[in-house]
Amino acid sequence: MRLEKYIATSGIASRRAVKKSIRAGLVTVNGETILVPGYPIDVETDTVVFDGQPVEPLTEHLYLMLNKPPGYVTTRHDERGRPTVMTLVADLPDSIYPVGRLDLETEGMLLFTNDGDFAYRLLHPSHEIEKTYLTWVKGVPNDTAVQRLRQGVTIPSGKTAPARVKRLKTSRDGASTQFEMVIHEGKKRQVRLMFKAVGHRVIRLKRTQIGNLRLGDLPQGQHRFLTESEITALMAL
Ligand code: URA
Repeated sequence: MRLEKYIATSGIASRRAVKKSIRAGLVTVNGETILVPGYPIDVETDTVVFDGQPVEPLTEHLYLMLNKPPGYVTTRHDERGRPTVMTLVADLPDSIYPVGRLDLETEGMLLFTNDGDFAYRLLHPSHEIEKTYLTWVKGVPNDTAVQRLRQGVTIPSGKTAPARVKRLKTSRDGASTQFEMVIHEGKKRQVRLMFKAVGHRVIRLKRTQIGNLRLGDLPQGQHRFLTESEITALMAL
């Protein structure tokens, strides 16, 4: 494994920060100072010391939520150079990745982890984990439209399962209506396409909850670690 990756994986600092430290002469391998990032490490046998601190490979798992702002792509690298969600968690070890995805313009709760088992459980369709969205749509959908959403509608990827839909409020000028919607599938652009299917464009979409885990008042663009009990509750779903 590359030296900077090995150290970053231990959770000490981001890969970028580790590279700087290597060049600054702060890292030794088996007692010898290594000045070039990319130096190959034998994970089993080499002894790495970072700024006087022995580096242990990461055994700890990380779990966090980000309040994703609109305009960030959920990917590790974007070939088109758009800002990615990774830039919002750049101070954390490189081993973390987003669990699932939110569309470019969707905001709200996005989980990150380096625990593959956790990610797998949350994403596997058979677990049917409920995700709650606040959505603002154009106009004022009538009760028939709302009823259709509750029963499930046909979108290009197939028929959606029934959704829980609560009408919250309509703007005074009738330009937009706010709903809370709970779905347990993860079809691409599902909420947007469901409203489109009943004739209303989504103008803002925010995920507020996954299972019982709430975004709460976490400010946009900020992240926080999950507590032990939050992790346990999600793992039990
Ligand atoms: N539904 C959508 O349409 N977009 C998302 O990002 C998530 C759910």
